[in-house]
Amino acid sequence: MLNFAIQTARDAGRLLAERFGRALRVTNKSELDLVTESDLASEKLIIERIKTYHPRHAILAEESGVSGPAHGDDEWRWIIDPLDGTTNYAHGYPCFCVSIGLEHKGRMELGVVYDPMRDEIFTAERGQGASLNGRRIEVSPVDSLAGALLCTGFPYDVRERSEFARHFANFIMNAQAVRRDGAAALDLAYVACGRFDGFWEEGLKPWDVAAGSLLVEEAGGRVSKYDSSPLSIYTPPILASNGLLHEEMMRVLSI
Ligand code: IPD
Ligand code: CA
Ligand code: CA
Repeated sequence: MLNFAIQTARDAGRLLAERFGRALRVTNKSELDLVTESDLASEKLIIERIKTYHPRHAILAEESGVSGPAHGDDEWRWIIDPLDGTTNYAHGYPCFCVSIGLEHKGRMELGVVYDPMRDEIFTAERGQGASLNGRRIEVSPVDSLAGALLCTGFPYDVRERSEFARHFANFIMNAQAVRRDGAAALDLAYVACGRFDGFWEEGLKPWDVAAGSLLVEEAGGRVSKYDSSPLSIYTPPILASNGLLHEEMMRVLSI
């Protein structure tokens, strides 16, 4: 199943890359939330593959919602973001990815994040570790916020979330630096391979975090809600870190 997910993510990523930079039809899902023809084409490719090769598996995908057989607790479910980083993509900013996760009995078992611009494929299987282009990856050894490069994202309803600005300001004052790259699945993959030391965001959806959260765990990091309770991919927020920074980041989020 890992090979299937890798091949499918690569093919969907190639489709995104081929169309990247061309004039695209862009539709607004809400004031800030966009969808392009490429989101839809990528999702169609992925769903058709799953229906062909795994017809008994359920699907949860960003643009079309639930499809395939009904999802029972003991069944497999693919959780798909066909294009994470749509706003970047629509502006020709080359930071986006395809994210494919596989859940079984309510637990993430497999995750693949593919960045077609850098040809980087991040993969994880539960209990088997995480890799980047086939080489094992680990979270960073940074153990103090003062030396940490953090990342966050701004949810589309950020204007209604006053606490977000407070968290952002507090991290800027306490970390070495804070980035906002605009593709949550890739942000999590970067925590997994040690480029970022920590990541936090509220208001994300299951397809944003399904694959990336497993990548972080399998790379030796930690994921939770802001208060250390276990992460549910269905009910954000998410705090992801190399583990060493987790307590310090939770303290900042509680200010
Ligand atoms: C978005 C990106 C962004 C995050 C938003 C997400 P999309 O996903 O991951 O980084 O801040 O909250 O919705 O819409 O580009 O798939
Ligand atoms: Ca997304
Ligand atoms: Ca998306």
